[in-house]
Amino acid sequence: MRIKDLEFKKFISKAKVQLKVSSLAEQINADYADKAPLFLPILNGSFMFASDLIKQVEPPCKVSFVKVSSYAGTASTGQLKTLIGLEESLFNQDIIIVEDIVDTGLTLQKFIEELKGLGTKSVEVVALLRKQPAREKMIEVKYIGFEIENEFVLGYGLDYDGLGRNLQDIYESVG
Ligand code: IMP
Repeated sequence: MRIKDLEFKKFISKAKVQLKVSSLAEQINADYADKAPLFLPILNGSFMFASDLIKQVEPPCKVSFVKVSSYAGTASTGQLKTLIGLEESLFNQDIIIVEDIVDTGLTLQKFIEELKGLGTKSVEVVALLRKQPAREKMIEVKYIGFEIENEFVLGYGLDYDGLGRNLQDIYESVG
């Protein structure tokens, strides 16, 4: 499959994705059985994952989609500029951040720091995919779907230059 200048091949089938999402939901259901977590899915990439996951969550929960906008050059500085869309009070809440993929982990690190400064009770992360750089830096992600290397992936919410989010399977770039 070609998108713009890149060639992609199927990497993780939609069936495997769905099985993994169910298993993540089961872990969350067990850990939060007597709690009422507030899910904060990070837009845009996590919209599909968050939808499938939260459908299978059993304890009462709240959901507030957030968007993280960064200064130019975020990849190198990791500076977080603003958090858009947060309407719920975070005080004393059990937060679960929902992320599509953790690469360098810079986005997540800053976000977690900011949340912890707002009087949250607990902050955990559920990520569908985690890449090698985040593993090396031991970025704290409690619930992880798939550990991958450094391949560029798209589909199931993840994009290449805005395209590919609608695909149900996950694809990897093949050069
Ligand atoms: P980090 O701050 O480097 O961890 O960046 C994480 C964000 O970069 C994710 O939420 C994605 O939006 C994007 N990203 C990282 N790797 C990929 C990829 O392989 N495909 C699509 N988006 C990616």
